[in-house]
Amino acid sequence: MAAIVHAMRPSEKTASAESQRFDGLSAALLDWYSGHARELPWRIGPGERARGAAPDPYRVWLAEIMLQQTTVPHATRYYLDFTARWPTIDALAAAEDETVMAAWAGLGYYARARNLLKCARAVSELGEWPSTEEGLRDLPGIGAYTAGAVAALAFGRRAAAIDGNVDRVFARLMAAKGDWKSEKIEIAKQVRVLVPEDRPAEFAEALMDLGATICTPKSPNCLLCPVRGWCTAQAEGNPQRYPIKPVRKAKPVRYGEVYIVSRGGEVLTERRPDRGLLGGMRGLPTSEWTETGPADRLQWVPVAAETLGQVRHVFTHFELRLDVVCGDVVSPPPGYDWTARSDAADALPSVFKKALKLAR
Ligand code: ADE
Repeated sequence: MAAIVHAMRPSEKTASAESQRFDGLSAALLDWYSGHARELPWRIGPGERARGAAPDPYRVWLAEIMLQQTTVPHATRYYLDFTARWPTIDALAAAEDETVMAAWAGLGYYARARNLLKCARAVSELGEWPSTEEGLRDLPGIGAYTAGAVAALAFGRRAAAIDGNVDRVFARLMAAKGDWKSEKIEIAKQVRVLVPEDRPAEFAEALMDLGATICTPKSPNCLLCPVRGWCTAQAEGNPQRYPIKPVRKAKPVRYGEVYIVSRGGEVLTERRPDRGLLGGMRGLPTSEWTETGPADRLQWVPVAAETLGQVRHVFTHFELRLDVVCGDVVSPPPGYDWTARSDAADALPSVFKKALKLAR
C-alpha cells in the first residue's frame, strides 16, 4: 500500500489536494542531497551533520554575507583569505577597519563590509552568537535571509533561507504567474511549511545546491531534478519562463574621471569619505560623478593629462562611466598617498581595478 502512495506523484493529484501538493518533496530533496551535496569550505557535509557535528557560526555567517554579494567561486577566495587572517569572530572584531575594508575590496557593496565589522564587534561583546532568527536579526547587517540561513545552518533551528535561488525554484514548482511581490510572499510561506523539523540545515543547503546546479536560471536540467514530479513549470514544458518578474527600469548613468597618477612603481590613492558609495575604502582619485556628463577635472591634475579610455561599473542604483586619465603630477595636494601599484591592483574596489588594468 505504501509503495502505491509513493508512486503517485503530486503533480498527478487533483487540484483539490492543494494543501498536500508538496507532500514528499522535502524527503526527496534531502535524499538527493545526501548523494549530491557540493563540498564547500564553509560547510560540513551531510555525513558529518548526521553524526551530530555543527559548523562554526562565524564561518557560516561570513560565507552568507559574502555570498549575498557574489558567486561561490568568487566568494571562496575571499572566504579562505578572511578565515586565514581572522580565524575567529574575536579576531575579526579586533581587526583594523581599513585592513578589513581592503580585504573586502573586489567583493563590492562596501556598506556590507562596514556592517560585517559592526556585527563581529557586537557578537564579540555579547560573548556568544544569538541562536534564534529573532536574536540574529537584531545584529547589524543581518536581514531576514541571513538570519534564517545562520539559524538553520549553524544552530539547526527550523528556519528557512529564502533568496533569489529559492524564489526561482519555487516560482517553477508553483508555476507562479501572478504579481511577483505577492508570489514571493506565497513562496516564503510555502518554503517555511516544507522545512523539516529534524534537518533544517540540510534542507536549506539542498535548496541552494538544487538552484545552483539543476534548477539554474537559463537552462534547468529537469531530467536530473529530484523534485520534477512536483514541478508545475516542468509539466507545462517551459520552466525557463519562471520566475516572471516585472521589467526592471534601466539604471541611471553617472559620469566622471578617474586619475592614474604614477611615480615609479606607485600610484596616487586616497581614502574615500566614510559616507557615500565605497565609503571608507581606498580608491584612485576621481572627479565628482554627475548625471549630466563629464565633470570638472580636479584642479591639481595637469590639463595635458592623457585620456586612455573609459571604464564602466554597475552599482546597485546606477551605472558609473569613468574616463581614465593618466598624468604626472609633481606634488599632489595633501590627503593623498602613494600606494604600490601591485597593492592597489589587489586591494582597490573593482571599478578602480578596471581603471588600472586599462592603464597597464
Ligand atoms: N548561496 C548562499 N548561501 C550559500 C551557501 N551557504 N552555500 C552555497 N551557496 C550559497
